[in-house]
Amino acid sequence: MVLTQDELKRIAAYKAVEFVQSGMVLGLGTGSTAKHAVDRIGELLRHGKLDNIVGIPTSKKTQEQALSLGIPLSDLDAHPVIDLSIDGADEVDPFLNLVKGRGGSLLREKMIEGASKKFVVIVDESKMVKHIGGSKLALPVEVVPFCWKFTSEKLRNLLEGYGCEANLRLGEKGKPFVTDNGNYIVDMRLEEDMGDLGAVSDAILRLPGVVEHGMFLDMASTVIIAGELGVKIKHK
Ligand code: A5P
Repeated sequence: MVLTQDELKRIAAYKAVEFVQSGMVLGLGTGSTAKHAVDRIGELLRHGKLDNIVGIPTSKKTQEQALSLGIPLSDLDAHPVIDLSIDGADEVDPFLNLVKGRGGSLLREKMIEGASKKFVVIVDESKMVKHIGGSKLALPVEVVPFCWKFTSEKLRNLLEGYGCEANLRLGEKGKPFVTDNGNYIVDMRLEEDMGDLGAVSDAILRLPGVVEHGMFLDMASTVIIAGELGVKIKHK
């Protein structure tokens, strides 16, 4: 039987929720894979199989979903240490480095997942790559709207050596996509892999106007990969 990509996402998400225990503070991810995990947590709470959970949502969308499921919510100010975060990713390399943010929630995701004792990433097997940020997809960078063209050009110059294009992400009616934090996203399309990811990450973050980027280096503790042949779990 051939499973759809959405079924694979759900399988990975349900597996991750097996790590959840009553009494935990949970980082709730964003995106089509994380949505399944949040639904499952809501279901287990409803059936009394989990209790005393506090969720910290990584986006307004996840906040709405969690509220509709009756999951009690809080934030990082009240809970600076999170027991477990569960979230999807756009790309995962063999060292469990990630690209995230194609849904635009990278800043809150990085803050919340970075504050987590355990960060479990859930993906279908199509997300596994040799090198993150290379060829097929884009590396999202959140920038302040003020003179975004200036920042975008600085980003393009910085990554020029990797055959780079920088495009402002557009949303509804061709207007700039605006993040939950009121910022814009510049999608960096790279033709070549970036080599020293740490050095590139630091250089991007040093550019004035940049708020955050979508490389999540050395953050994931576990990656759950659902594929046609079953589920694989990789630990750091
Ligand atoms: C949201 O900004 C992203 O980081 C998502 O977690 C990521 O894009 C994965 O999304 P899907 O699960 O929808 O593929």
